[in-house]
Amino acid sequence: MPVTDHFLVRISVLHEELNRALAELDLPETPHYLYAPIRYVNTGQGKRLRPILVRLTGEACGANVADLLNAGLAVELLHNFTLVHDDIMDGDNQRHGQPTVHKQWDESTAILAGDGLFALSQLLLLKVCVNPLKALRRFNEATLAVCEGQGFDKEFEADSAITLDHYLIMIEKKTGNLIGLCAELGAILGDQPEATIQALFNYGLALGKAFQIHDDVLEITADPEIMGKSLGSDIKAGKQTILTILAREKDAGNWGQFCASVDTSDETNLCRAYRNYFESTGVLNQAIANAKQYGRQALDLLEVIPSKSRSVLIEFTDLVLNRKK
Ligand code: IPE
Ligand code: IPE
Ligand code: MG
Ligand code: MG
Repeated sequence: MPVTDHFLVRISVLHEELNRALAELDLPETPHYLYAPIRYVNTGQGKRLRPILVRLTGEACGANVADLLNAGLAVELLHNFTLVHDDIMDGDNQRHGQPTVHKQWDESTAILAGDGLFALSQLLLLKVCVNPLKALRRFNEATLAVCEGQGFDKEFEADSAITLDHYLIMIEKKTGNLIGLCAELGAILGDQPEATIQALFNYGLALGKAFQIHDDVLEITADPEIMGKSLGSDIKAGKQTILTILAREKDAGNWGQFCASVDTSDETNLCRAYRNYFESTGVLNQAIANAKQYGRQALDLLEVIPSKSRSVLIEFTDLVLNRKK
């Protein structure tokens, strides 16, 4: 189902509202060492998909708007905390259309800014009136799962024994859990029964897997200017992405020869060579088909939402699955 103009206007209004709330968060001025990078991160060009998801599932579940805004800000700060540390771990220079925190300042600043963002995110979540402790428990469980996923992501680097099943566990943890949390928070704040909470978490989990597979594809096919972040570091780090795993599983000999012979001296040519390989072997289309399969799984899980409020979540799913940045 294509997204409607009405829906796109709604998303852009929510995006603006979130940007305003992030810019206006009540933060102390000093120490500048801590709060200047936190302000910098909060006003970067994120898509705000996670707080928008909290809002849309929450509205479908009858939650109040003030709770949804606080929980949305909490997940956005949590997300940004994971990105600040992820960019150190991945050695990336650009994020949200600006230099990463460890490039703009240094690693010590970025570690502390991440820590501060995480503490602030939990304080924001504790402002909710409905089920705050339940929300906070799930928030921390999801955060721990993200850390586990990031642990696997690093452990898997340059390990050619990693299979598609390992990869799927890794992305379910590093990306699926946070998106699952966002969908689930709407139901928790709407005081819904466990079955609805669980179904929405599973929806977000499947959507998150589709999202990360799509992100791995964009890493090799998109323009860094449009994405607003560094691309290509996956290859240099020997990351196990869906593309490298499918390429190896399809023809290990040919893949090994390609990796050994590719010219690594120029980054643009390197990315182009990998993209051509993935395209010409059909691996790129296979990865896209994989993302679509998880997208369909996510849509099926929305059956739990009453049909009159389901269409907006179907449109959100479509928007995420077809994103260009
Ligand atoms: C980036 O997520 C991190 C991944 C899980 C791939 P987003 O694409 O949603 O991040 P924003 O919109 O730049 O904040
Ligand atoms: C991001 O994973 C997931 C988390 C930050 C937990 P990636 O490292 O694959 O995402 P990008 O490409 O840096 O956004
Ligand atoms: Mg990264
Ligand atoms: Mg990473």
